[in-house]
Amino acid sequence: MKSQQPSAYLCHSLDLYEILHQTTQNVALVEAETINVTDDTSIEKAVDYIASKYGRLDILVNNSGINNELDLYFKQVEQAKAAEIAPQESKEDGNSEISKLPAQVDHHLEKSRPDLAMMRKLYQEAYEVNLFGAAMVTEACTPLPEKALAKPPRIVFVSSHPGSMGLRVDKNDPEWEKWSRPSFPIYRSSKAALNFLTLHYASKFEGKEWKVNASSPNLTATSFSHGNGRPASESAVNIVRLATLSAGGDTATHW
Ligand SMILES: NC(=O)c1ccc[n+]([C@@H]2O[C@H](COP(=O)([O-])OP(=O)(O)OC[C@H]3O[C@@H](n4cnc5c(N)ncnc54)[C@H](OP(=O)(O)O)[C@@H]3O)[C@@H](O)[C@H]2O)c1
Repeated sequence: MKSQQPSAYLCHSLDLYEILHQTTQNVALVEAETINVTDDTSIEKAVDYIASKYGRLDILVNNSGINNELDLYFKQVEQAKAAEIAPQESKEDGNSEISKLPAQVDHHLEKSRPDLAMMRKLYQEAYEVNLFGAAMVTEACTPLPEKALAKPPRIVFVSSHPGSMGLRVDKNDPEWEKWSRPSFPIYRSSKAALNFLTLHYASKFEGKEWKVNASSPNLTATSFSHGNGRPASESAVNIVRLATLSAGGDTATHW
């Protein structure tokens, strides 16, 4: 990464892109290209641009991700607050009902008939970004790392601990109670599939000595988590590490 020639990165998130860029100290070459990972034309346009301008790709970070179940949950909490809770909060005793909200929302959901059309839409939206998007971007990019200047080429898939099958079934894990809750099946299954995709590409490119790994950042204070969690600069450290592995570095791992 200390080459005189600037490295070519593709990372679908500006924050991470900037951190990666600062780490590798090629300050003259930050460029942002808008890409919609659910749109093949947009993906091909971005990859064509990189191919024509740089002729290579050194690092690919598949970072884009959504959790529309969490977004829906927060929306329902807001609605419940507006409809039922806000008036009670103004009672003289000042008792807040906010702590009861998750139970109330769940109860409400359990009573109603499952809205299959809505659930299908949520699955499709999440899988389009979290899985299909990462797969299509990787497929579109993969001729370019052949010509990487900063070797070995590295691909990082940004995953999530709740999508780990290992954690989900390991009763000896101290946090097993948390991982085994039946929460966010759409998001978690999309990340579980992404983990499989990581192993697929690691195996596919092992002979070429590319480094293909997944990183799970922990709860991080971004718009994704509605501001909950640790600073993004801390969560990015491991992603940047995997994006800058040397020839002896790991492949096919999930950190
Ligand atoms: N935050 C956490 O607690 C947490 C925990 C574990 C894993 N993760 C994972 O970390 C990754 C990054 O999330 P984050 O926390 O940094 O959240 P974020 O700030 O919301 O970033 C998500 C990024 O995905 C992009 N994106 C969404 N749909 C896209 C699409 N169709 N095409 C291209 N880009 C798209 C967003 O772009 P726009 O802003 O333009 O929509 C945004 O830059 C995700 O894969 C997430 O699953 C996050």
